[in-house]
Amino acid sequence: MSRILITSALPYINGVKHLGTLAGSMLPADVYARFQRSRGRETLYICATDEHGTPTELAAAEKGQDPATFCAEQHEVQHRLGRAFGLSWDHFGRTSSPQNRRLTQQFAQQLWEAGFIEERVTQQVYSNADRRFLPDRYVIGTCPHCGYEAARGDQCENCTRVLDPADLLHPRSAVSGSTDIEIRGAKHLFLRQSVFAGKLRNWIDGKRGAWPLLVTSIALKWLDEGLQDRGITRDLEWGVPVNAREWGPNPEGQLPDIEGLAGKVFYVWFDAPIGYIGATWEWADARAQEAGQGPAPDAAWERWWRQPEAADVKYVQFMGKDNVPFHTVGFPCTLLGVNERTDAGGNWAVANNAPWKLVDELKGFNWLDYYGGKFSTSQGRGVFMDHALELLPPDYWRWWIMANVPETSDSTFAWEQFREQVNADLADVLGNFINRICKFAESRFEGVVPAGGQPGALDEKLEADVLAKLRELTGFMEEREFRKSATALRQLWVLGNQYLTEAAPWTAIKTDRDRAAVAVRYGLNLAALFSRVSEPFIPFAAEKIAEALGQPFPGIWPALDGEGVLAALEPGQPIRAPEVLFRKIEDAQVAEWRERFGGPDA
Ligand code: MF3
Ligand code: ZN
Repeated sequence: MSRILITSALPYINGVKHLGTLAGSMLPADVYARFQRSRGRETLYICATDEHGTPTELAAAEKGQDPATFCAEQHEVQHRLGRAFGLSWDHFGRTSSPQNRRLTQQFAQQLWEAGFIEERVTQQVYSNADRRFLPDRYVIGTCPHCGYEAARGDQCENCTRVLDPADLLHPRSAVSGSTDIEIRGAKHLFLRQSVFAGKLRNWIDGKRGAWPLLVTSIALKWLDEGLQDRGITRDLEWGVPVNAREWGPNPEGQLPDIEGLAGKVFYVWFDAPIGYIGATWEWADARAQEAGQGPAPDAAWERWWRQPEAADVKYVQFMGKDNVPFHTVGFPCTLLGVNERTDAGGNWAVANNAPWKLVDELKGFNWLDYYGGKFSTSQGRGVFMDHALELLPPDYWRWWIMANVPETSDSTFAWEQFREQVNADLADVLGNFINRICKFAESRFEGVVPAGGQPGALDEKLEADVLAKLRELTGFMEEREFRKSATALRQLWVLGNQYLTEAAPWTAIKTDRDRAAVAVRYGLNLAALFSRVSEPFIPFAAEKIAEALGQPFPGIWPALDGEGVLAALEPGQPIRAPEVLFRKIEDAQVAEWRERFGGPDA
């Protein structure tokens, strides 16, 4: 049985995330992690905040904070909100952690020694007023092609042409608006990605058919366009320093030219994916600390990441489609470059007898948007995690998002459809079933699982139908087909209501108490089954159901062999109807929320 390592794309530190971010990585990863745990597999779900880069420096400055204070605060906010949504991270770390700084420096060192990094001088825009180099998109000016006056240095939003900051007419700093800017030469480190093109293509080719088409096609498109070597350093203050070695003695052969690279940091897209490993190390250290020990031995976290110990690990990544190139090309280049070397003849050889694991399964998502447009922080358009929880409990959001997760195409959030679906699936189908069966058992069977009676054709049919649906659901979950999983789960819930309607214990009890007892017993067992198989999607409601039935939580996924799929509850087991599981969303609420968060024409 394999261990399962799960990571979801690391959310940027600045700002509370909107539902699209949740839908495109963190929530599906959580659903999958909960499912794998309940299947009894040793599972590790790792996430972290992605903290470095210019946007962080600017956001901190805007708040009058230094980046470290800003990040510490924002990390707490995101951690709290993720937990409130039920995200079952084993660890929620930080790319600015000492562990990640050290790994980033170490990887760069090894890439340098293997000859995969080289120094180059690049021309960059320097702003005298801001006393900083400006990344391309922080230079603004007039587009030479269409005359748009607020074109960004990387691309014109108006005509979509790709630009170089030097192309812009009347260039100015987006930070201060100052026109006192100049082009300066600066030394930077480049990762020679082009060396890895053939290896990457073979690797991705081997994933065709196994990975979602969305993912392999994005990766192959990048490879087809020709892999560019990539600058992996930046002139910033907030980041992993390139040349301040924070570990061990400075060995010979260290990163080059301390003078020329002093004060530079690694590019955020270089250190961020390494953060998956860094946060796993943080997790191990945190556990060791909880146990009253010092720092964890390397083996405690390396067993998830390095061969040969990690041979039984299946590593699954979750992300939005914009992240796919960095995970199919960028990060794999870093790891391949640390794992392998080329000789003078260009042949590859093993460089590392404990190579780092590459991703096994990559699940990419399309966009979730808001009434067909983008969620927008600056325009206050759409629903963000903090506001969402002020309106409704997390399960409402979790269910809707997973049932509509943008798997094969983009999907869109609209309040009206949200209300309709949540009311139908959660209140009318699941909530109603749980309520009916528990209330009836309370009032007519002294609040215990009734004994007695012989199952008949109807009950046997139910058992067979449930087992078939359960197998289908399990298969979809293993395949990470979440929309199909949500459909199968809903169909399971529907079976419950159909059964109760046909078995009609409230009628049977008038003439045949044993017959009613069988129906109630099957119904309660269905409820127990629902708690277990719904837990990945709606853990809070699942816990209430488990409590009502005196069942452990979280439970284990039911066996698929047909043995007692509806016999988990012992006759005599006390039960108690839970409070209303899901209150219906009213029209008036939808009207109010549309007003507050923006509707179709906002
Ligand atoms: N912060 C990035 C985003 O939200 C994702 C980083 S994923 C990582 O798009 F692996 F690089 F960390
Ligand atoms: Zn233009």
